[in-house]
Amino acid sequence: MDKFIIRGGKKLSGELQISGAKNATLALMPATLLTSGVSTLTNTPQLNDVYTMMKLLNELGVETKFVRENSFGEKDVLQLNTKNITSQVAPYEYVKKMRASVYVLGPLLARFGYAKVSLPGGCAWGPRPINLHLEALKKMGADIDLAEGYIIAKSKKLNGTKINFDVSSVGATGNTLMAASLAKGTTVINNAAMEPEITNLAEFLVKMGSRIDGIGTSTLTIEGVDELKPADIYTIADRIEAGTVLIAGALTGGEVTIKGIPDIYINAVLTKLEDSGCKININGDAVKVKAASKQITPTSVTTSIYPGFPTDMQAQWTAYMAIANGVSTVTDTIYLDRFKHVPELVRLGANIAVNDNSAVIKGVSKLKGAKVMSTDLRASASLVLAGLAAEGVTEVLRVYHLDRGYQKIEEKLKALGADIERVAGAEY
Ligand code: EPU
Repeated sequence: MDKFIIRGGKKLSGELQISGAKNATLALMPATLLTSGVSTLTNTPQLNDVYTMMKLLNELGVETKFVRENSFGEKDVLQLNTKNITSQVAPYEYVKKMRASVYVLGPLLARFGYAKVSLPGGCAWGPRPINLHLEALKKMGADIDLAEGYIIAKSKKLNGTKINFDVSSVGATGNTLMAASLAKGTTVINNAAMEPEITNLAEFLVKMGSRIDGIGTSTLTIEGVDELKPADIYTIADRIEAGTVLIAGALTGGEVTIKGIPDIYINAVLTKLEDSGCKININGDAVKVKAASKQITPTSVTTSIYPGFPTDMQAQWTAYMAIANGVSTVTDTIYLDRFKHVPELVRLGANIAVNDNSAVIKGVSKLKGAKVMSTDLRASASLVLAGLAAEGVTEVLRVYHLDRGYQKIEEKLKALGADIERVAGAEY
């Protein structure tokens, strides 16, 4: 099991190209199940979650391979051939590793009339239900049973209908959008997720022949078609990787420029960085963030759905505010229990208390290096950030969590001037 050793205190500066978005890729890959033939995804990130999705799709009979290198020498064009689907069963061994596996449910059911998908169960930081996915498919006419830890969904033909989500859900919108594309008649999704990753998925479906109105808004109208064809799509850049490296620059007193991502995707984070004293400069697809010249102004955030401040950035923001000049709060309204990083940040000298779904952070003048443990992807990112700012040596254990969702993060940070190394096969 790998760990990172970080010698903190280096200012991070320079330019970085942002990789393709994990959460877009994890929706685009299963969408190919709606078609028969070869589709390609360009700008696919090399991530463990992407490899898990590849293995799951392979299990269903999809042939997958990376075929072309980008200008950075990374194979980023993923080809998926869905001609010979041999199974409609997503086993527990994949779903327990990665909840996004549930994205195969909608497309399998819509194309084959049958899907058996393991129930995801709990997640590292608390419950993450999938009731909305199931209710939407039921409303479209599917018979859904739960047996022996599996969702068993059957339907001769799904029917278009009106779906009003009580909660805006990325996954439920994605699953419903995919299923509705092959349903009979019109489906209207109200309170649909507006996240750019859902827009990327909708655009892919349109390229396959789906008829979708309202892309990018909270009302999606889908006119079902009998058949969809394979297609090619460019995967959007990862807004969470972007936000994470900008904070790395901001909390080390540096100046980081990111490229390849529209600033609109990260507007909520940029606004908060500005409030904290950073200077922002946007030039085409280059976004430069210069750290606050003196102290970091305490800046509270409350997470919300896009275009609000993302829950996937709150742990990193907490690490940043740990060295701000005063008290701030980080409130998560999406996942009320997502604070596993807090006790580990406290080991680094942070002064943070969790009250219900808020972290109250009293900024300290310095963090000090220590051994800390990754518990989930974004928690791990916050520990790396804190380690970059801390005095002395920080060891971040169990970095496999980071490898799920950040492509070669240590090399990227090193290129910006960080002193960070990966040690393979380290202690558990
Ligand atoms: N919810 C329900 N019922 C459902 C589905 C969701 O009550 O059936 C609730 C959730 O409990 C949560 C809210 O709705 O309170 C939003 O959850 P959502 O369904 O949008 O989350 P998701 O689709 O499971 C995706 C990302 C997460 C990200 C969330 C929120 C992927 C593969 N995952 O999850 O990403 O935190 O949206 O933006 O797209 C990450 O990358 O670290 C990560 C966890």
